[in-house]
Formats: sequence, structure tokens, C-alpha cells
Amino acid sequence: MRVIKAADYKDMSRKAANIISAQVIMKPNAVLGLATGSTPIGTYEQLVEWYKKGDLDFSQVTTVNLDEYIGLSHDHEQSYYYFMNKHLYSKVNLDLSRCYVPNGLEMNASKACTEYEQLVKRVGGVDLQLLGLGHNGHIGFNEPGSAFEMTTHAVTLTSSTLDANKRFFESVDEMPKAAYTMGIKTIMQAKKIVLIVSSADKAEILKRIIEGPVIPEVPASILQLHNDVTIVADAAACKYI
Ligand code: GLP
Repeated sequence: MRVIKAADYKDMSRKAANIISAQVIMKPNAVLGLATGSTPIGTYEQLVEWYKKGDLDFSQVTTVNLDEYIGLSHDHEQSYYYFMNKHLYSKVNLDLSRCYVPNGLEMNASKACTEYEQLVKRVGGVDLQLLGLGHNGHIGFNEPGSAFEMTTHAVTLTSSTLDANKRFFESVDEMPKAAYTMGIKTIMQAKKIVLIVSSADKAEILKRIIEGPVIPEVPASILQLHNDVTIVADAAACKYI
């Protein structure tokens, strides 16, 4: 694992966007694995800025997102598809027919997950996977205790994740309690992984994933076993490393 210490959120975002840009420049038809949450917003903003300056071309890029709430449609303001459209798809020249997010409206979980897993294979696998980090060490929606060998699957969200993400909904009752997520196995098959981490409240979990044992109770600890992981973390998150 390479750890790049960034000064602050903006610096973290620029460094992560630089790595993604390099990927797209080196391989214009790259498959990018993308993430939601508040952490990647600055990274997407930076990519949009460089696109507008003419430095980046996404026309041949394919994107596959990590996860989606079950029950939310693309136009629901809290769906991850909506988030991606708002922060990236609608602002750059990505071809929407190649921007994929698990289908939250497919109620047949095994169908939704099998199809998504096949899709990731069909597009040739992920060249670069961007990840955020949950406060409990989750990646995508792989909550503590998830088996490392899981592929795309349906999950029941833990109370700590419901708590962390309820701020985006009018009330916790409106928040979906389940999601589809790429599994740890799917994530680990990406050729390169970039994990971005910001703020002091993630400092302790960041230390555990880098220095602690590789255990399902800390899902992101599995990244220690991948051969091309770059962690870009701001100074506040790096407090203990
Ligand atoms: C959600 C997403 C994760 C994300 C996490 C952290 O639970 N499913 O992919 O990494 O939130 O979010 P934030 O960046 O807002 O802390």
C-alpha cells in the first residue's frame, strides 16, 4: 500500500483526480470504478474542471459504481445514480450508455447482483477503482463481518451506516435499509485501487486498515493484500500514521 499524505481536503482531491486523469490519458477507454459519499465530491469537481479546460476526454470511458440503495430510482435525489449524474456524468462528456450503477429498482436480488457482476466482467474488469471509507471501515457497502469472497450482493445496512448517512434524508424512516454493493472480491479484482480518506473522524479506522490485522471486522483491511493500492489521505485523517 502506498500512502500519499495530502495537506487538506482540496489537496487530497487534486491528488486523487491526478491519478484518475493519468489513467484516462494512458488508457482513453479505461473502466473506472467510482464511489459516492461526501469524500469523492472534490475529486469529481477537479476532474470536471480539467475536462472544461480541455485536458481530459471521457468519451470512451466506461464507469461502474460500487453500490446503490435498494428501492431508489435514478431520479430519486438520494440515489447514487442521481449523485453520480449531478457530480460527474452531466458535467463531462461521458457516454451515459456506459455509466453503470447497480439497479436499485430490481427487487429480485439475485438477478440484480448476477447481472451486475456479469456486466463488470463484460466491460473487461475495472482498471482503476476509487473508494471512500466508511467510519466502520466499510468499502462500498461491505459492512464489518462481510466475507472477503463475496461478489455483488444485497446487504442490510448497519445502524452505524444508517446513522452516518441519514443526514442526506429527511428522516431515518425514509432511508432505505438495504443496498446492492459490489463485494470485496469484486473490488479486489480491480487492477488499481485508490482509497481517499478525509477528516479526523476517520484517523483511527485508517490506522487500523493500514497497520492492523486483515480481518472481515475491518473490511478495508483486505486492501493490504492487493498489489496496487494507493491511499490518498488528508493530514487530519493521517493523525495516527
Ligand atoms: C457510503 C458509501 C461508501 C462511502 C461511505 C463514506 O456508505 N456506500 O462507498 O465510502 O459512504 O462516505 P463519506 O465519504 O461521506 O464519509
